[in-house]
Amino acid sequence: MSTIVVAAHKGGVGKTTVAVNLAASFAHYGKRTLLVDADPQGAVATALGITVVKPSLYELINKQIKANDAVVPVDNISELWLLGSELDLAGLEIEAPRMTLWQTKLADVLHDAETTWDMIIIDTPPGLGVLSTMALNAADGALVVCPPDYLAYRSLAHLQEALVLSKTPIMGIIPTMVSTQSRHAREALELIEDNYRDLILPSIPKRVALQDAMVAGMPIVNYQPNSDCAKAFLSLAKEVLSRAKTVAA
Ligand SMILES: Nc1ncnc2c1ncn2[C@@H]1O[C@H](COP(=O)(O)OP(=O)(O)OP(=O)(O)O)[C@@H](O)[C@H]1O
Ligand SMILES: [Mg+2]
Repeated sequence: MSTIVVAAHKGGVGKTTVAVNLAASFAHYGKRTLLVDADPQGAVATALGITVVKPSLYELINKQIKANDAVVPVDNISELWLLGSELDLAGLEIEAPRMTLWQTKLADVLHDAETTWDMIIIDTPPGLGVLSTMALNAADGALVVCPPDYLAYRSLAHLQEALVLSKTPIMGIIPTMVSTQSRHAREALELIEDNYRDLILPSIPKRVALQDAMVAGMPIVNYQPNSDCAKAFLSLAKEVLSRAKTVAA
């Protein structure tokens, strides 16, 4: 079993798209997978076509309910379960710092789940605030998402500092929304590859199909299984599964 956090300091870089599609790819390979949304934007449920999130992660943390008693199976995708969030989770950014040992509140919720699922994926909000800190502390390893963009490249160093503080090893960096159409994108991708060579994982191309899949409430492996982006996610999942064995060992 491995608990993996999908993280980035910068917003809008593709974290949720990676978390949802990677989790669905694990499920596609027959891995019992739990997808946890630690972002009050609640986009993970939306990406899976789920409109009502009950109970939300906020209730679990506040009432000390264990994940195993609250997860919901995702319709039409066997082996995938959700622990979703909605706007109420935003309150925790203010309330949590008054709680003792707040940094481990998400880890506590997931404690029993670690023996129930093969893989747990946690999606995070942008920034390195309270919710992201809880998520980093609940994980065995971090997957860092980075599009070919200079500011996203620059923010990798900030996240690395937070990962050192939470003692969460980096499993790899996923170049995402990759397009070589602009000079800026080509140069930013080169910067990322040159500076983080050993950490680079299979990349995800920039494709409208991934946005359409989100609107349809389906992961790409179900929405357009023969597309190059579905195949990219399956290749990425294979590589992450092999690295997860090392992280969990
Ligand atoms: N590989 C891709 N190709 C094309 N569009 C993408 C890709 N990845 C993400 N997107 C789109 O980019 C936007 C932001 O993606 P996403 O919501 O996954 O980012 P995020 O990092 O989770 O954002 P936030 O920081 O707000 O949580 C969405 O409209 C999404 O559909
Ligand atoms: Mg997101």
